[in-house]
Formats: sequence, structure tokens, C-alpha cells
Amino acid sequence: MLVDDNITNLAVGKNALVEQYDVYTVPSGDKFFKILEMVEPDLILLDVEMPVMNGYEVIKKLKADPARASIPVIFLTAKSDMHSELEGLSLGAVDYIAKPFSPPLLLKRVETQLLLEAQRRELQRYNSGLQKMVEEKTRAVADLQTAVFDLLTEVVEYRDDETGGHVSRTSIYFQIMVDSALRDAAFQDEILSWDIRMMVLSSRLHDIGKIAIRDSILLKPGKLTPEEFETMKLHTIYGADIIEKIEKSSPNRSFIDHAKVMALTHHEKWDGSGYPHGLAGADIPLAGRIMAIVDVYDALRSKRPYKMPISSEQAAEIIIQGSGTHFDPQLVEVFREVAASFEKVSDLA
Ligand SMILES: [Fe+2]
Repeated sequence: MLVDDNITNLAVGKNALVEQYDVYTVPSGDKFFKILEMVEPDLILLDVEMPVMNGYEVIKKLKADPARASIPVIFLTAKSDMHSELEGLSLGAVDYIAKPFSPPLLLKRVETQLLLEAQRRELQRYNSGLQKMVEEKTRAVADLQTAVFDLLTEVVEYRDDETGGHVSRTSIYFQIMVDSALRDAAFQDEILSWDIRMMVLSSRLHDIGKIAIRDSILLKPGKLTPEEFETMKLHTIYGADIIEKIEKSSPNRSFIDHAKVMALTHHEKWDGSGYPHGLAGADIPLAGRIMAIVDVYDALRSKRPYKMPISSEQAAEIIIQGSGTHFDPQLVEVFREVAASFEKVSDLA
């Protein structure tokens, strides 16, 4: 599209290009925008000095329209001083041709710009294809990871059927605790460094080690003897071992790492009296400290063969009583703020 208020210039320009291209000649900026609604040019040759709307105003308006901003513009002008050339280029023109121009030179410069534009589009197509491919692969990996979690979760629930719903409730409580702890400056930085989606999924695997505990202990309809309880404690270590095996065969080893940490440390206690390693205080990973509160709360609210569920108020009270001995005191404060949300989730079960 050739835009110039001078009819002679339009004729000369069109003559130079018409053998190779379809050329639309337009006598003003105003008409140019009207024609632009019907024709999408591959390139615009634009005169600078025009009455009413000059070339600079035309290019500014054009570049402000996202649908048309990428159409290359070459300025054509008699004003060949450095200043106007720079101004034209800074407004987004791709080239600048001084009038009077030689027709073969005009043709050559137009060809060059059209070639560049074609390459730019090709590159853009290639990039968006590449980006789409990466997105699809990423989604496939995430789907596969979720499937692994779902499968493992199902295995745990199937094996430990007494605690029906525990696994899924656990991840909801865990999410509530994480959301609330995020508002606490003491935990914010660490939580923000997590892949939170993965962490929440991982919380469902904290008891995966129970699949390695014998039925006679795992499903015993009564309190465990001290020896049986010692065996039961091993579910933390078995869990970490199982997850480590999965990790070793996964190309993305970190995806399940959170699960290992939670499986291993969810029975540790703040005062060091927990198991399996008797870790204390902040030596217990944060995810394990959160899981401890979540796990105990759900166990208290659940019916077991040897006990009835207790009320949400009593369960919350026991968590609060455990502050500083069983649980991280600062996390107990976080829990107090969301105890009502815990109650709602436990009531749904
Ligand atoms: Fe456990």
C-alpha cells in the first residue's frame, strides 16, 4: 500500500512495483485507514509530509492497533536529514527511503523488507509451535505425576480401609494450613519456595509405609501391644524407602521428594519425643510439622474400632494443649486461626 498526497509520486511508485506486486495507491492518511478496514497490506510505503494527517501521525495510529502494529512501514520522504530519519525509525518504521528514489532501488528495498517479514512470521510460527509442544509435554508430565499420586493414594486407602477418607481429608487440611501459614512471616519464605501443588498432593502419601505393615497389626481391632507399636512406627521409614524407590526411577526426581519428607517426619514431636529419629524443634522439616497437626486432628475426629470420634472442639483443644510439646507452637497459632475451617471439612466426612 502506497500512501502519498502527491499524485505523481503515487504513479512513479506504483510503476516501479506493479510488475511484482499488487499496489494500492492512497492519497491521504484518512483514506488509508478506511481502506485498511478492507485490505490487509503486507507492506506500507508512507509519505511523511502530507496535509491533515502526516506520516508520523499515521504510523503512531497504526502502531497503536495491536492487530496491525506488525505490518512493516517504509517511510518515503524528501526530507532526508538525519533528524527526520531517526524520528521515523523510532516510531517503528523498518526503513527510510529518500525521494526522489530510483525505481529499481525502491523495488529492491521492498523485496528485502517483505522477505524479512516472511522470515519473521515463519520464526513466530515455529516458536509458537515449539511453545505448544513444550506446554503439551509439561502437561503430560504433570498428568503422569498426578496419576502416580492417585494410584499410590488408592493403594494406601485400599490397604488401610479402616481410615476411609483420611487420606483425602488430610490433603484438604494440609492445604488449609499452608494457606494460613503463608500469612505468617515465619513460614512465608519457605512455603513460597515449595511447589505447593506437589506438596499438597504429597501429603496424601504420608502413611504409604503402612502398606508394608502386616495385616495382623495394621488391621488389629484394638490397641497395639508395645512390640506391635514398635513395628507400626516403622511405617515412617518404610514410607520413605518406598518413595525413594519411585524417585530413583523417575526422570524428575524432585517431584516426589516432599512426600518422602512427610512420610518420614510426620510422627516427630516438637520436644524430641517422637519417632523414628526423635528430631526436635525446627530440625523437623516444616512439612512434617504441619502434617503432624493435620494427622492428629483427623485421627481424633475419626471413629476407630477401639474409640469413638471426639468433637471438633475437643480435637482443637488437644492440638492446642500439644503446643510446644507435640507440636510447633507457632503452627498451633496458625491452626487456631483455621480451626473453624477444619471443623467444616471434618463435618463433611
Ligand atoms: Fe502415620
